[in-house]
Amino acid sequence: MSASVETLIRDYWHLVAHRSELAKPGDFVRLSWAAGDLVLYNDEGVVIAFDNVCPHRGGRFFVEDRGNARAICPYHGWSVRGGEVRVARREQFSACDLKKAVLNRYVTAWCGDFLFAGVAPVMSLEQQLDAFGTRLSDIAHDISAPRDLYKIDFQANWRVAVENALEAYHVNSIHPDTLAPMALCDDTDSYAGLNSAFHARVGNQRTARGLTALRRFFDIRAGFEGYCTYYIFPFAMVSSTYGYSYSLQTFFPTAEQHRSWFYSRLLSSRAVEGTETFSETLLTATIAANHQIFDEDHEICRRVSHRYDLDNPERIYASSEERVRFLATTLQAITDQAAANPLLKRAR
Ligand code: FES
Ligand SMILES: [Fe+2]
Repeated sequence: MSASVETLIRDYWHLVAHRSELAKPGDFVRLSWAAGDLVLYNDEGVVIAFDNVCPHRGGRFFVEDRGNARAICPYHGWSVRGGEVRVARREQFSACDLKKAVLNRYVTAWCGDFLFAGVAPVMSLEQQLDAFGTRLSDIAHDISAPRDLYKIDFQANWRVAVENALEAYHVNSIHPDTLAPMALCDDTDSYAGLNSAFHARVGNQRTARGLTALRRFFDIRAGFEGYCTYYIFPFAMVSSTYGYSYSLQTFFPTAEQHRSWFYSRLLSSRAVEGTETFSETLLTATIAANHQIFDEDHEICRRVSHRYDLDNPERIYASSEERVRFLATTLQAITDQAAANPLLKRAR
């Protein structure tokens, strides 16, 4: 793990789930990143985050990506309840200090119904989200249920994957059948703290009319008439077309430089009662299109040479790649300041 990945994991909040994914006691989501596993678990009504490692002999509580189960280590039966470890056949440990039998917990914080986890964040979640906090909380409010979880063992550095997601310059060459026909236009970039967003209208009039007509099926307040994507520093992205569903994407580094874990969870938006069947059809089509888009992005990202220097200050950026430049500047500033002062000033 490079020093900067360690710093990013340790010093920042990470958008990891929506409340609807962890609604019931026992609901869990398991993500992988360079620090091992990151488990989000509804522990009798309270969502906790921990590293999935049993403090006894290291058994992992969960191996599926998501589901509903009690957190019981299958090795010798230790379990998690009320944030604490319950030791099986406790009498056998009379000579031990069982206070040491604790979970490695991550800290958690909510922005509306979006869950963030952290190791030792250097600023509050509000500070980190800056002006996007309100927007994100409005989006989270519109989301009703998790649908699809799509995971790719991404054969590229996490940053190659994020940079790809930060620009639409590649849309015509890489997504000719999915995104390109929408003919995105009138696009604008915006920035808040370390985060950035992209909004664009749908230039294909027929598609735009069809999408606008679907608005009556949804009970939402944060919808944008077009395509929008928010990059939530450092590893997450929230994207949507018209706000009818949201793709929550995480681009997690692994311990290997040229490999990362990509997860997209498609989260459906609130449908007007009685129209669920219709929105279901739309969701099914969105899920299929998204899978194709993610596969196309993976194909091109894995093709990026390992020799290409992401930190070269002479890199060239199109006007539509300004958010990539902004990320490069941000990461360089963090690298420069890490030793002296991990509190990053706003890099704008
Ligand atoms: S390793 Fe988990 S109970 Fe022993
Ligand atoms: Fe793409």
